[in-house]
Amino acid sequence: MALPLTACLAPRLFEGHTVFATGGGSGINLGIATAFAALGANVAICGRTAQRLEAAALELRRFGGRVFTAVADVRDPEALALAIEQAGAELGDIGTLVCGAAGNFVSPAEAISPKGFRTVVEIDLLGAFNAAHAAFGQLRRTRGSVLFISGGQSYVPFRYQAHVGAAKAGIDMLMRDLALEWGPLGIRCNSIVPGPVEGTEGMQRLSPQGDTSLWSRMTPLGRMARVDEVAQMAVVLASPLGSYVSGAVLPVDGGQNLTGSALFNEQVERMLMQRAQP
Ligand code: COA
Repeated sequence: MALPLTACLAPRLFEGHTVFATGGGSGINLGIATAFAALGANVAICGRTAQRLEAAALELRRFGGRVFTAVADVRDPEALALAIEQAGAELGDIGTLVCGAAGNFVSPAEAISPKGFRTVVEIDLLGAFNAAHAAFGQLRRTRGSVLFISGGQSYVPFRYQAHVGAAKAGIDMLMRDLALEWGPLGIRCNSIVPGPVEGTEGMQRLSPQGDTSLWSRMTPLGRMARVDEVAQMAVVLASPLGSYVSGAVLPVDGGQNLTGSALFNEQVERMLMQRAQP
């Protein structure tokens, strides 16, 4: 991290606080779990791959808090509910739920099979609902908060991202609905919209030929984000500093949404045409 979080925030800010992150074995979600762990939280992560979770857990344990891992696909409501219940039993009721598991690929809408479309909606949108639904009892007891990890595709149309746009827009509306329904119980809900983040699988998938320089050119700040720059905003939103923020969709994207998707659309189109050539 460029500036240690502990230089800006109380080093034990999240002591006794449990965070559960879906898809927490890698990428932005692991970055978020790491930031909470660095500030004293106990952290639970779930994902599809035991090996990846174990590697992540090793990293998280360095901060001294307790760490729980569970192999659970967010598309499997029973497995996810069990993981959330066990995490709460082991670490204490969840105070912050991070709904971050996501799937993506680039494809013209007409080439996405019904199963392909459903797969992304199931991981992103239904997975987020499954997690929030399962964690509700614990969040009610802690008067906790839910952070949904959305995407710029939710409000800026991108070509070749019809499945993702539908799923992410659904997430942001789900977030608002839950903020409205659960607010009276003291539960806050917000969406973070990461822009281009370096070193993540998502960026590799969204960068033609793996060339991520496109994203720096599409971003007013002229560079991609580091994972910790998204994570630090998650921490602030979940902390007492965010106590009156609920129902918000917060871009952490260096202003990327202001430039739209035209450059991405052109580059991917070129790549798809090259691929189609014999
Ligand atoms: N273009 C078109 N369709 C595609 C595709 C592509 N590049 N990649 C996958 N699909 C379709 C498959 O064809 C399949 O549908 P079909 O059986 O009708 O052909 C459907 O999506 C499911 O694919 P499958 O590989 O069986 O699903 P999975 O559960 O193993 O993987 C994905 C889910 C497709 C979302 C995969 O990309 C994934 O696991 N992603 C997780 C990691 C990730 O994307 N991280 C970045 C998050 S931003």
